Amino acid sequence: MSEQRLAIVTIDGPAGVGKSTISRLIADQLAFTYLDTGSMYRALAYELAKTQKATGKSVQELVQDDHFVEQVQALELELLPPLQGEEYGRVRIGKQVLGSELRAEEMGQLASEISALAQVRSGLTAIQQRMGAAGKVVAEGRDTGTVVFPLAAWKFFLDATPEERARRRIRQLRAGGAECIDEAALLANLLARDRADRNRVLAPLQPAEDAYLVDTSLLSINEVVNEILQHIRSHPL
Ligand code: DC
Repeated sequence: MSEQRLAIVTIDGPAGVGKSTISRLIADQLAFTYLDTGSMYRALAYELAKTQKATGKSVQELVQDDHFVEQVQALELELLPPLQGEEYGRVRIGKQVLGSELRAEEMGQLASEISALAQVRSGLTAIQQRMGAAGKVVAEGRDTGTVVFPLAAWKFFLDATPEERARRRIRQLRAGGAECIDEAALLANLLARDRADRNRVLAPLQPAEDAYLVDTSLLSINEVVNEILQHIRSHPL
């Protein structure tokens, strides 16, 4: 007998593919909770960078602590909706609420680096599984269909060429008021993050075997959302 599929949508894919916007729209349409796993990696990266500055220890040293996984699992992490006019949600970690500071390019980079560490992944994966235990979630990230929710009923993997993803990111930064953007550096960072996320040993970025693949290079956000919703509706639980 095959295992029971869960009322969970997973949306994985590389940086800059539009996962966040699309996942939030899908969650709204289905009245599901939106679970942004990338923000959790970013929040932990932010905390580690802060502790690193305060203690002078390297991130590697900090995560070597025997109790690190327990500490991460015990973290009070809460995903909060975006402030009005902002695109990304915020994260409450302990008493602190983090928002735009998580979106800095360096924080994405550091999140990617620490996400290759077993101690970090096991801590955050357990929290994510707890958050999704009741079902009715749209989980977004790199490994939500492969590792976090392997029994999710609807799995999607979004992709687009690196050039198109870099163009989208540049448009987004311009819309936010940025003037001097080093476009070549941005593309190089995106390619480096792709390489690191796809080639790491643990939970690498890759489509789940049963994921539905969407190449979004030539599609608008609405077209992707409609395709995903159509697929979900034509494959009921
Ligand atoms: O989606 P994002 O750009 O906010 O994610 C930041 C980094 O966090 C990403 O480069 C890799 C890591 N990440 C991960 O390893 N697994 C996830 N499920 C989500 C993010």
